[in-house]
Amino acid sequence: MSRRYLGLPRGRSEEELDLFIKKLELQAKETAEERIPLYLKVGVKDADLILDVGCGSGMVTRDIANLTKGEVFAMDESKEMIKVAKKVLKEFDNVHLAVGDAHNIPFKDNTFDITTCNLLLMWSVDPQRVVNEMKRVTREGGIVLASLEPDFGGKVHWPENPKVDRIFAGEAIRRRGGDPHIGRKLRALFVRAGLETEVGIGNTRIWTCEEDKAYYLHARDYYIKVLREAGLSHEEIDQWEYEYLKSLDDGIQLNFFPQFYAIGKKVKKDG
Ligand SMILES: C[S@@+](CC[C@H](N)C(=O)[O-])C[C@H]1O[C@@H](n2cnc3c(N)ncnc32)[C@H](O)[C@@H]1O
Repeated sequence: MSRRYLGLPRGRSEEELDLFIKKLELQAKETAEERIPLYLKVGVKDADLILDVGCGSGMVTRDIANLTKGEVFAMDESKEMIKVAKKVLKEFDNVHLAVGDAHNIPFKDNTFDITTCNLLLMWSVDPQRVVNEMKRVTREGGIVLASLEPDFGGKVHWPENPKVDRIFAGEAIRRRGGDPHIGRKLRALFVRAGLETEVGIGNTRIWTCEEDKAYYLHARDYYIKVLREAGLSHEEIDQWEYEYLKSLDDGIQLNFFPQFYAIGKKVKKDG
């Protein structure tokens, strides 16, 4: 299968990899309040076998492992990510890591009680094939869960900055080979896989300006890099940052974009 850029910088330097891992750590922390209720809803606590596909650095897998006594398998196509995940998850005896492609999941049919992914479909070359594969390895009566997949077309943001907003409203994701509108496609992907499907939006809470500011300052290097890659000059970036931070300090900034989830039940063949 031909490879596009999958959210991880290709031919990356150690510095780029560190930035990416830092961003994943922040994301995992900030989205725990959306994901954990979903894990509980689909029965992670009582599951015997769970698979996390596209686990990255393992920070989301850690939340799952903390909730269950079952065995948690986690896989990613990137050897580098699996190396990081090994460190992040080293205290868990019930977590098993593997390198593998989500388009050809290296497990047998009908194996897992729950097969889950987080922020994977937006970076997948063929998201339909990934969901089909997740269904294949899930047992009958089991659950396929996509816990967070954003839709940047639904981004609401004020005050505006026309130069920068379009970059963060999808352009940057597209440039990196991702699909900024994957959220709205989740229902179709799950239904076409033959799953009994429920979709929803996980993040109904609007962050405070203090939360937005803390997130930005932690991930600042990453955002500046994205703006540089998009061709903005140092002056333009400085001006944007000044205005953005001022609106946060003035307590008037509002930022929201929907994070969709999908829960799919693999129904038994006899009903
Ligand atoms: C944005 S990261 C999310 C990581 C993790 N799920 C999280 O939420 O922190 C996307 C991950 O998907 C992995 N990935 C992308 N395409 C993949 C594929 N076809 N098979 C397996 N992993 C893939 C990348 O290597 C990366 O680690």
